[in-house]
Amino acid sequence: MADATHIFPVDFLWGTATAAHQVEGDNTNNDWYAWEQKGGGRVFEDQVSGKACKWWSGHAEKDIKRMADLNTNAHRLSIEWSRIEPEPGQWNHDAIDRYRAILTAMRDAGVQPMVTLHHFTNPIWVAEQGGWLNPEISTLFQRFVQKAVAEMADLCDVWCTINEPSVYAAKGFYDGSWPPGQANLGHYFQVMHNMAEAHAAAYHAIHELRPQARVGMAHHMVYWKPLRSANPLDRTVTHLLDGMFNGLFLDVIATGQWRPIIGKKGEIPQAKGTLDWIGLNYYQRWDAAFKLNALKALGITYSARPGAPKGPQSWGEFYPEGLLELIKRLHRQFNKPIYITENGVPDETDTIRPGFLLEHLQQVWKAIMHSIPVKGYYFWSLVDNFEWAEGLDPRYRFGLYGVDFKTQKRTLRNSGKLYKEIAKTNAISSDMARRYAPEVVERMFPGKVSPR
Ligand code: GAL
Repeated sequence: MADATHIFPVDFLWGTATAAHQVEGDNTNNDWYAWEQKGGGRVFEDQVSGKACKWWSGHAEKDIKRMADLNTNAHRLSIEWSRIEPEPGQWNHDAIDRYRAILTAMRDAGVQPMVTLHHFTNPIWVAEQGGWLNPEISTLFQRFVQKAVAEMADLCDVWCTINEPSVYAAKGFYDGSWPPGQANLGHYFQVMHNMAEAHAAAYHAIHELRPQARVGMAHHMVYWKPLRSANPLDRTVTHLLDGMFNGLFLDVIATGQWRPIIGKKGEIPQAKGTLDWIGLNYYQRWDAAFKLNALKALGITYSARPGAPKGPQSWGEFYPEGLLELIKRLHRQFNKPIYITENGVPDETDTIRPGFLLEHLQQVWKAIMHSIPVKGYYFWSLVDNFEWAEGLDPRYRFGLYGVDFKTQKRTLRNSGKLYKEIAKTNAISSDMARRYAPEVVERMFPGKVSPR
């Protein structure tokens, strides 16, 4: 007998999430492919996405069966611009048909798709025209969105315009670890600006085609805290990071005002109110500190709190409570339906994942108990996949199913078994915690669990 059970709303969406380049394989016409070919340590051990999880060549359907096996009723995937529009204004109808087949398989399996229109990759021709620094990019993106949505809207009602603008801009244009490999803070803000324009253009274009579509975007938020809470410099650094990374994009959507800390302020009036729902991608907490020896980066440093549970390398701290705080913040700012469009943990051995899943879901449940309309949760990820600059590094395996990339064999991890129970019962419980993650029982259900 469970001592406590947290039940979710009947219509709650239990989902998983993937992105095209990370699972499809044979994506050879985008800027990430070109980046992988360059070698030079850009990707872990110079690995390439190659066949990835072979979704394009047939494995998507097999993995969709796995979604149904897990009792999940939703999946967030992305479609690859470079496949659908391989050359400017030219449409590849075979690619559109392949996506239609994948979406149809999902619907047949009782899995509601959410389609992301931009998840980090760009057609090579777009990159050659200046990519997201090109002032015309939102027009180019809009043309693609119009075509893709016109071709697929009968199969999908929920559209996610852009995945994680601040991550894309930070990695590609500020720390330079992703294509196009630039390190220019001004470019970071320019890309964010152009992505806000593109998001707005996509939002309006989709609604013109399909007034009933539900359109949002997936925003990555870090739970930032000052390392020394009373230290004014640490507080300033935290404020800066939170503003640039979490706040800026949300602010322009909420107000139409463009207020970067660097560069020209202005307006993107057409962005105001362009969310039918907001997606939150949440992974970690970082504590920020001002350090004199980091003057090149304006003194800005951040890291996991000493002694806190944390991910590999500079991944940051696992901090479930941060999820509730960020949900509350989005609710205050937008008062719109919220989806957790990504949440997950790099953990090949599945030691942490079951407890991580339960503790984060408890925060989602608390938000719902506060009457905040969190409508669904998309776990990152269904299967291990190509983790960008980390490639197939075993330290960065995110799947409920492990994948052997030599044989394509999938193995259901314990966390997958747990998620299957959660989705089936529409609940999390102390009984599940006891069976899958005894280490979190006392934290999640203090004093409530009877001895075995
Ligand atoms: C997100 C990203 C995903 C995936 C995940 C795990 O930032 O949207 O594509 O890589 O992180 O690191």
